[in-house]
Amino acid sequence: AAMASDKISIHGAWASRWVFILAATGSAVGLGNIWKFPYMTGVYGGGAFVVMYLFCIALVGVPIMLAETLIGRRGRQSPVNAMKSLAIETGASRHWSLAALMGMVAALLILSFYSVVAGWSLDYILGMGRGDFTGISADGAGAAFGGLTSDPWRLTLWHSLFMLVTAFVIAKGVVAGLERSLRIMMPLLFVLLLVLLGYSFTTGHFREGFDFLFHFDPSKVQDGILAAMGHAFFTLSVGVGSIMVYGAYMPKKASIGATVLTVGLLDTLVALTAGMALFPIVFAAGLEPGGGPGLMFVTLPIAFGNIAFGQVMGLVFFVLVAVAAWSSSISMLEPAVAYFVEKTGGSRVKVTAVLALFCWLIGMGTVLSFNLWAEAKFFVFAEDGFHLLQWGAEGGKTFFDSIDYLTSRILLPLGGLSFALFAGWVLSRDAVREELAIRSPLLFNLALWLIRVVAPIGVLIVFIAELSK
Ligand code: PHE
Ligand code: NA
Repeated sequence: AAMASDKISIHGAWASRWVFILAATGSAVGLGNIWKFPYMTGVYGGGAFVVMYLFCIALVGVPIMLAETLIGRRGRQSPVNAMKSLAIETGASRHWSLAALMGMVAALLILSFYSVVAGWSLDYILGMGRGDFTGISADGAGAAFGGLTSDPWRLTLWHSLFMLVTAFVIAKGVVAGLERSLRIMMPLLFVLLLVLLGYSFTTGHFREGFDFLFHFDPSKVQDGILAAMGHAFFTLSVGVGSIMVYGAYMPKKASIGATVLTVGLLDTLVALTAGMALFPIVFAAGLEPGGGPGLMFVTLPIAFGNIAFGQVMGLVFFVLVAVAAWSSSISMLEPAVAYFVEKTGGSRVKVTAVLALFCWLIGMGTVLSFNLWAEAKFFVFAEDGFHLLQWGAEGGKTFFDSIDYLTSRILLPLGGLSFALFAGWVLSRDAVREELAIRSPLLFNLALWLIRVVAPIGVLIVFIAELSK
């Protein structure tokens, strides 16, 4: 009789486990590493955030990545249907699939703002190509970024273009299209990061940047802990089903354990390199590390504008940022596309078009949150009570901040928690053993224990810590 893992997904399968590593790394390494990690480290005060983040990666993020990959490979369908069929097979409630449904929605919400930010990098490709940043000052770089974000039309143009490119690849099918370009682009991205790192050495502020990144101040731990947990999920692409759907396309004879560890390490390496490259530039330019989402788009042009061959390197760098974002954005769309193709039997092209349009529309909220809607604040807790939306309120969050908060802080951790519980407690021990294919019994037990106990408790502790703040 055929074992469950012999089935093949109707959407195709990767040629080898290396393609899974490539695709999963392509999903993981993205704006989260180069754009979000440095600015969040800045906002949450440096080292304490970084240490919390590393703990969350190792004890929660990677185990959940294991869980997702093995659920996907055993289920061989879109995350929703994989969980549904596995639940039915094991006699558990089919409602477990609601976790995958929630993840699917979260991935679409992430795509909506991710596309806008990726669009910024497209604008910077043009700017670098034109030489706009040659010899630019810190003030000039700040003004250039402000000029971009305050212009809704320019933002809409790039957002639309990026969404179109994402939809294009997904419509053609992930399996065939991406492999070759990623093989070249990912290493190149890493080399350029190293070049930037080299430049930041020459700023004379390397030590300051390093201290900021790694100086541990225990008094600041509670402040950023939920942010660190949320970012660990975001950066590893876990909690939404992206890794699960890629797992569904994985060949049956591949050790999930080693594969997932590789992806987790690469992602962490890129984030730390980006941080070490950026912060010395921030300090050398006299900028605020807590400057928020604009950090990378203000500091990098300063660096590229003032080094030899900076124009060319800057151009290549922003191309690679866009590519890194693009290899991530497709993985946000794939779970939903796979699901609706399975559900409706409709064409992949049509399903993709409808879903991309939906994400594009929500993304317009993010576009406007930087200009016309900058004063529209959601989730306002004021003295006179709670307001879902209040114009010009002191507290509260812009549309962009709200979607970011809802996904990273709430939906991703909840999704990840459910995936870990499902893999650890609903699937049989033998099923997990067969999928993980970790030979050493000791390592297998460690992995199982992390999935069953440590990761779920980690998520819960962080939620409780946040509530009791
Ligand atoms: N991991 C990606 C990044 O760091 C973002 C992402 C989140 C991708 C969720 C897929 C799903 O940029
Ligand atoms: Na990442």
